[in-house]
Amino acid sequence: MEMQSARSLAATPFYAEQADECALFAQAHAARLPLLIKGPTGCGKTRLVEHMAARLGRPLITVSCHDDLSAADLVGRHLISGGDTRWCDGPLTRAVREGAICYLDEVVEARKDTTVVLHPLADDRRMLPLERTGELIPAAPGFMLVISYNPGYQNLLKGLKPSTRQRFVALGLAYPAPEVERGIVAAESGCTAETAARLVHLAEALRRLTEQDLEESASTRLLVMAARLAVAGMPLQRAAEAAIVDALTDDPETVAALHEVLAAVLGP
Ligand SMILES: Nc1ncnc2c1ncn2[C@@H]1O[C@H](COP(=O)(O)OP(=O)(O)OP(=O)(O)O)[C@@H](O)[C@H]1O
Ligand SMILES: [Mg+2]
Repeated sequence: MEMQSARSLAATPFYAEQADECALFAQAHAARLPLLIKGPTGCGKTRLVEHMAARLGRPLITVSCHDDLSAADLVGRHLISGGDTRWCDGPLTRAVREGAICYLDEVVEARKDTTVVLHPLADDRRMLPLERTGELIPAAPGFMLVISYNPGYQNLLKGLKPSTRQRFVALGLAYPAPEVERGIVAAESGCTAETAARLVHLAEALRRLTEQDLEESASTRLLVMAARLAVAGMPLQRAAEAAIVDALTDDPETVAALHEVLAAVLGP
């Protein structure tokens, strides 16, 4: 792993490791391989990327993909200003030139034409072709392409093509083990160890219950939110109701079942 300077260490966002994902990230970066991170919402994908960008001392350029995002949004376009047209780099092109880490969040949402620009960057070529200007930009050392997606939302039509997936090293994240998650909840909210333990206990019960019924279950993010409400003075049961249970679903039957679990785990 590369050395960290004192400055980047001070600015490194907190990340509690689930397994060996930090080493995997660093080794993929050293080997100039792109990385695909998959996992449910709120399990730490974005935080891992922020943490590793700081540790590796690389700038981070994040793009949240949506169904209207085109190759031109990533690569850049000609802009007209005062009768002149000039080329304006998009975020991917900036990252390629600067040797930054480019993080494409929820990449399956993006329009299909984006894969055309990702493929030559994600394999041995490490090149970004700018069709509009005819430029072929070699990725600067330090550049890394990281994409993430949430398999739970994956629409069959929208899944990544094998020819795209197989250009990436894959890292699967899940919700962290209880002892790791307790540490995260306490560190991210400033709550007591006891509050963190009770919320993680609740999450385990909710996850057991909701595995079949809900697309997604109580995420680490929701636990942190509940803990912050508790730190702000809200009684824990009410905080968990507002931040976790009511956030998970609108279906009245499921809400009732979740409230029962909440009362059983956190109730007086
Ligand atoms: N391993 C972890 N270390 C530190 N904090 C974490 C970790 N996992 C989750 N968190 C906390 O949970 C929050 C949500 O995590 P993050 O934004 O990384 O989720 P995500 O997987 O990117 O979710 P989404 O798919 O919705 O974008 C973080 O802001 C942080 O407070
Ligand atoms: Mg994210």
